[in-house]
Amino acid sequence: MRKILIATEKPFAPSAIKKIGKIFKKEGYDLLLLAKYSSKEELLKRIPDVDAAIIRSDKFDAEVLDAAKKLKIVVRAGAGYDNVDLDAATRKDIVVMNTPGQNSNAVAELAIGLAIFGIREMFSGKPGGELRGRTLGLHGFGFVARNVFRIARAMGMKVIVYTRYSKHAAAAIGLKVTNSLEQLYEKSDIVSIHVPARGEHIKSVSYEVLKHLKDGSILVNTARKEVINETDLLKIMEEKPGLKYMSDITPDCEADFVEKFEGRYFFTPKKAGAQTAEANINAGVAAAEQIVGFFEKGDKTYQVNK
Ligand code: 3PG
Repeated sequence: MRKILIATEKPFAPSAIKKIGKIFKKEGYDLLLLAKYSSKEELLKRIPDVDAAIIRSDKFDAEVLDAAKKLKIVVRAGAGYDNVDLDAATRKDIVVMNTPGQNSNAVAELAIGLAIFGIREMFSGKPGGELRGRTLGLHGFGFVARNVFRIARAMGMKVIVYTRYSKHAAAAIGLKVTNSLEQLYEKSDIVSIHVPARGEHIKSVSYEVLKHLKDGSILVNTARKEVINETDLLKIMEEKPGLKYMSDITPDCEADFVEKFEGRYFFTPKKAGAQTAEANINAGVAAAEQIVGFFEKGDKTYQVNK
């Protein structure tokens, strides 16, 4: 009997586990749960005899993958797979997949929520502003950004985008694509970051880009902390006293924010963008179906370590 492990340090909603359980039961697979674990040791103990794993931001590094003696496939229920060592997986002939688009509405709603929280001065009672009529700059144009666009447009915002790979998709819906990232940051009242933590995007939000932000603008990050150069972010926070940074990922330099920038930042206590029952069901069920498709039909459609 195939053994499938759901290893999620940040647990799925019970309704999602129930639906995933049904899918595996129908196939006669055995479902094992490791939810809310707090140490790598717990994962290392459970991983050796499982055939497949569903994870979220859980770190699957070379040590974990080496311990996974029977693992054939790991599905990251979500978009970003920077938590999986793809080279180590490939060396061991383990297929890695993600579930693109499945949790994107949840993350998009949080991005808009952070923008509102920021422009309303964190609901402190200080007079804030409104999103309607303001310009939102989308840094990247994947599934999350497209949902942010839909919501922002309905709220009466002007939306512009900088994207290298989805220019046609953006233009097709009448969205203005800026010529450069610098131009996007310069023209926006709110910038929302939607690029993955890989390749050229790592530390791409540097001083050279940040210096173009308007003083009084809001930078929203629901992507990854790795895409920002934190030293440069701190520098620009000093230089532009009206700038706010609202993030779903606590930066490594949190202590500097606490010490110097009170009232100008917010970090969700635990990455919360995809933490809705709907997103858990969408991404979790997709992951389960991808595992079944892989074992029963050899389907590798969403493989990311080709
Ligand atoms: C993603 O990459 O899908 C999101 O950042 C959500 O991550 P999470 O599953 O760890 O909440």
